[in-house]
Amino acid sequence: MKNLFITKPVHAEPHVVAGEEVSLAKTLNWRHLIMLGIGAVIGAGIFVITGTAAAEHAGPAIILSFVFAGIACAFAALCYAEFSAMIPVSGSAYSYTYSTLGEAVAWFVGWSLVLEYLFAASTVAVGWAGYTLSFLDQFGLHLPAALREAPFTFKHEEFVWTGAWFNLPAVLIIGAIAMLCYRGIKESATVNAVIVALKVGVVLLVVIFGAHYVHPDNWHPFIPENQAPGVYGWSGVFRGASIVFFAYIGFDAVSTAAQEVKNPQRDMPIGIMGSLFICTLLYIAMAAVLTGMLPYTKLGTAEPVATALAAVPQLAWLKTAAELAAIAGLSTVILVMMMGQPRIFYAMANDGLLPKTFGKVHPKFRTPHRATVIVAVIAAVMAAFLPISLLGDVVSMGTLVAFATVSAGVLILRYTQPDLKRSFRVPMAILVCPLGVLACLALIWIMPLRNWLILLVWTVIGFVVYFSYGYKHSKLRKAQQS
Ligand code: ALA
Repeated sequence: MKNLFITKPVHAEPHVVAGEEVSLAKTLNWRHLIMLGIGAVIGAGIFVITGTAAAEHAGPAIILSFVFAGIACAFAALCYAEFSAMIPVSGSAYSYTYSTLGEAVAWFVGWSLVLEYLFAASTVAVGWAGYTLSFLDQFGLHLPAALREAPFTFKHEEFVWTGAWFNLPAVLIIGAIAMLCYRGIKESATVNAVIVALKVGVVLLVVIFGAHYVHPDNWHPFIPENQAPGVYGWSGVFRGASIVFFAYIGFDAVSTAAQEVKNPQRDMPIGIMGSLFICTLLYIAMAAVLTGMLPYTKLGTAEPVATALAAVPQLAWLKTAAELAAIAGLSTVILVMMMGQPRIFYAMANDGLLPKTFGKVHPKFRTPHRATVIVAVIAAVMAAFLPISLLGDVVSMGTLVAFATVSAGVLILRYTQPDLKRSFRVPMAILVCPLGVLACLALIWIMPLRNWLILLVWTVIGFVVYFSYGYKHSKLRKAQQS
């Protein structure tokens, strides 16, 4: 039993797979990290989900939902910053937990991160396909119906056949991005930076030009009267926060690049907190403008930004740019998630908890190439055959588990190893860390029962895998026993 909670020394050199001499390339700086963070964060959350959250749950007070979700993420971001500067390895929350709460909990967190990164890549790929197809449709370019979506969808708690074979565009975008990730982290970060500049530019244009067409009347009542639990009123604002939490996911993915950063002690906190800060400002401004341009009841579409712009004839020119920015923006979310997942597997393989193949590094490109290919194949199969509603729900669940554990871990390590060198310290950790845990637990609490069940089933599968492989092959346990 005690063995299950064996902890890895904080400054243990990352193990290297036997026979491997190549390590990941250290090429990134804080600018890359901020861009990677923004690349991962701004995506389906703002371009797809915000409208429904405002229309069905929070009304104009979706602005407050963004503030609350942003505060919860800020607690977690501070904790990620402390850890990733102190333990700059690619395993992120998995590795931090290995050093604080022990192997079994680390496995649980690593396994939950699959729900975040791998499932987010698939979810956003399906969202990307939807946006791209509707954009091309406007120009008379139609893909055959059989190749446009998954063979079934999940509506009102029931599976419904769509008659399609599989989602071809989602598979293609995952394949293209996987090739980039395989090729190199510097190349991936550079392509990401170009697309992020475009996406942020368009978001700023929407905010600046949209602001001229805001009718303050649309903000009254700011918090519509409560109609049922989670439908308007304060409960609606909190339900809205749990939904738009998805929009913030991704700043933590920056920490999976820590092993490839030249000066992680300085750059990791800047990258993680800088990207979250910029995205929070953009989100609050965007939510204010969208709900000010159009009554919230009309924002409940799959493309709320385009919907708001379409309502103002003078802004028709911006609509196409916003659609293109959404398509481009969603692709960087997939990119950063598909960079993150193989790196977590790489760290787990180097600890012996996953087979060696996940820990192989390409001799020339110095990327975890095999893990990248495996992740891409799984993500593509899921995106091809599963509907978005089923995929998206679990992403926030997995992320919240990781955030809560990381927040707890920072405080635990302050007590168990107070003398460790920390180049960045969470201010008032005694307050911030418990608040971080509580905020995540509160958001998990608001999630529908179905998400809890998925997490439970996923965890059970995870422990079956752990006891059949990782438990027996753990390098740390073997070293202790010999
Ligand atoms: N935050 C990412 C998005 O909104 C996952 O698409």
